[in-house]
Amino acid sequence: MTDATAKLRIADKDHELSTVPSTIGDVGLDIGALRSDTGFVTFDPGYANTASTESNITYIDGGNGTLWHRGYKIEDLAENCGFLEVAYLLLFGELPDQDALDAWRAKVRQHTLLNEELKRFFDAFPRSAHPMAILSSATNAISTFYEAYYNPKDPDAVRESATRLIAKMPTVAAWAYKKSIGQPYIYPRNDLSYVENFLHMMFALPVEDSPVDKVVAQALNVLLILHADHGQNCSTATVRFVGSSQANLFASVAAGMNALWGPLHGGANQEVVEMLHAIHVDPDMTVEKAVSRAKDKNDPYRLMGFGHRIYRNYDPRAKILKRFADDVLGTVSRDDPLLEIANHLEKVALEDDYFVSRKLYPNVDFYSGLIFRALGFPTRMFTVLFAIGRLPGWIANWMEMHEHGDNKIARPRQIYTGEALRDFVPIAER
Ligand code: SDX
Repeated sequence: MTDATAKLRIADKDHELSTVPSTIGDVGLDIGALRSDTGFVTFDPGYANTASTESNITYIDGGNGTLWHRGYKIEDLAENCGFLEVAYLLLFGELPDQDALDAWRAKVRQHTLLNEELKRFFDAFPRSAHPMAILSSATNAISTFYEAYYNPKDPDAVRESATRLIAKMPTVAAWAYKKSIGQPYIYPRNDLSYVENFLHMMFALPVEDSPVDKVVAQALNVLLILHADHGQNCSTATVRFVGSSQANLFASVAAGMNALWGPLHGGANQEVVEMLHAIHVDPDMTVEKAVSRAKDKNDPYRLMGFGHRIYRNYDPRAKILKRFADDVLGTVSRDDPLLEIANHLEKVALEDDYFVSRKLYPNVDFYSGLIFRALGFPTRMFTVLFAIGRLPGWIANWMEMHEHGDNKIARPRQIYTGEALRDFVPIAER
């Protein structure tokens, strides 16, 4: 549907709206002149019906449970690629050949160290600090060493900032974890792959040689790929919003991290495991009770890891993760009772009309936390892992916005429903 138009009748006047064509999926109604032509604005809280941009990065078909990155199916990318390979695809639009991939890996390896002055940064936080607070703060802190690369209109500076963010985030995450358990920081090593390096910094000790488990590294590689990008989700839209003011890439990504932390978004993976654990340990809390509470409109309780704004079918990432959970938990010899509860909870929910009628299926967060847990990560690190995975997606969207060149500062309208004009009342008369 490329040259279709739409007619909007207001009072006795027809207004023609042109369409914004797509390769596949949603076609847009261009309302760029709506207010000036009609005096009306659209009203769409949560933007469920509103496209904020055209994008070439990710395609999602929520009805069929389809997810592509730059035209490649997520299943193929998860099966065949390394995380840095997918990051390259998201950032630069094509899968790299071997030389380009080797050069990209070498480039990232050059930037995994944090400036030594940043070590004191972690001392400013209590050991109990949530690592997402440290991650977003550290992202802005890191940027203070690279102010020469702030300019969003300088492609070379942007590429340098993108590389530094992707290279340094695992180091920040691992050092935040080491700080929380009172262990010494482990420096990155250039002889390890990106994921192995992260696991090394997370779990190694300076007093012994602790080789990285290849099974764990491969599992984490797939998990990071599954989180790499997902269209205009809350955190990605935040990165674009902040970036639209010409804020630098570091500041925009730090804002996205804070949006991701919310329990309705990336924070859900931590909430899912806490929900399953509560069912496991609390004799008064059963799977049936959890489903019943989730259906009760008077109870704020939700089935975390269920439902999605776009997917009205099984999230394809959850499908991969469900299969993966059985394999990984079997391999790392951790028979986790929470997996059994998760499978039972999914079965009960998917047979319940409340969930079926609302097309609420497990999303990416439902199984990811169980796998992160099996890989040895503490619950509070789960959203940090999501952020490391989503980093290339955030950056690719931010770059695309600036490359489009026509990006205006994001500034939605509102429907004012407050007080009409009234006279001021001096305090003596209030
Ligand atoms: C992520 O956007 C993305 O792409 C996000 C993400 C990504 O990769 O970036 O995929 C990652 O954020 C996944 C979602 C993780 N969040 C959770 O698992 C939290 C639990 N789920 C929900 O809170 C909810 O489903 C959302 C936030 C995910 C989606 O919310 P919507 O689209 O605004 O849907 P809604 O809240 O309007 O719900 C529609 C109906 C409501 O009931 P009715 O008013 O129609 O009677 O479904 C109900 C909701 O009450 N509902 C749930 C539910 N999710 C929706 N009821 C119980 N449990 C749930 N989990």
